[in-house]
Amino acid sequence: MNSLPLEGKSAVVTGGASGIGGAVTKLLVERGARVVVVDLQQEAGEALAGELGDAVVFLRGDVSDRAVADLAVSTAVERFGKLDVLVNNASVSRQKPFEDQTDADWDLAMDTGLYATRNFMLAALPELKKAGGASVINFGSGAGLDGQPNQASYAAAKEAIRGLSRVVANEWAPHDIRVNVVCPMALTAGVAAWAEARPEQYAQSAAKVPLGRFGDPDRDVAPIVAFLASDDARYMTGQTVMADGGAIKLR
Ligand SMILES: NC(=O)c1ccc[n+]([C@@H]2O[C@H](COP(=O)([O-])OP(=O)(O)OC[C@H]3O[C@@H](n4cnc5c(N)ncnc54)[C@H](O)[C@@H]3O)[C@@H](O)[C@H]2O)c1
Repeated sequence: MNSLPLEGKSAVVTGGASGIGGAVTKLLVERGARVVVVDLQQEAGEALAGELGDAVVFLRGDVSDRAVADLAVSTAVERFGKLDVLVNNASVSRQKPFEDQTDADWDLAMDTGLYATRNFMLAALPELKKAGGASVINFGSGAGLDGQPNQASYAAAKEAIRGLSRVVANEWAPHDIRVNVVCPMALTAGVAAWAEARPEQYAQSAAKVPLGRFGDPDRDVAPIVAFLASDDARYMTGQTVMADGGAIKLR
């Protein structure tokens, strides 16, 4: 029996250099996995790889680029021999009222959210099929579930990711590939900037959290992702898991 829950597993984490993705990368490694981190931030990615040693390969790239998805998967196979876990965490968007959002704003949310998730899943499929029990973890958002103002393109991309994930969970179950979605709420640097730009919205969101605070990326969100990545979650697929202190309760 393995002493660590993710021992021997190989993962790709998009946006894995900082924020929630950085916390996920660190915890997956702590629990025994090896990780290809795909991120735009060269300095943060190299610093993390330096900190975590041979267990991490940093790949600088834009998740919107299909070739980057293929390269991430081939890097995992070359360096770690296989791929068992895919975490589609990266995504970017601009917050404005719906009528002010431009085509470029929509492209950004869709390309880095929905299409990146699609492309990484497609690129990973041949390897995930061979894993003998694989896990895909996609990222949704309470902003989509709640219809948060100023988040039209982002909410649309995130809800599309949830729909896509449910379909793929059904289609890939025969290959023993699980697909789940995490909707986090965590005080990362990005959220801190949003809180500063829109303090009323931030205060409203924090006030709605029964556990009384925005989550900590390392202690509150990454463990839920690590659980879904592990064989402890082997009977769980097609689910949306709220890592949000109880803010939204799905039924
Ligand atoms: N933080 C929250 O409270 C919250 C709430 C709801 C949903 N989410 C979702 O959780 C995920 C992580 O959120 P976060 O707050 O840690 O985000 P973040 O902005 O702090 O970090 C995102 C990471 O992705 C990288 N990245 C951004 N664009 C990229 C691109 N095109 N290609 C490659 N890498 C790219 C960034 O460099 C960064 O390392 C996102 O999908 C986000 O939508 C977060």
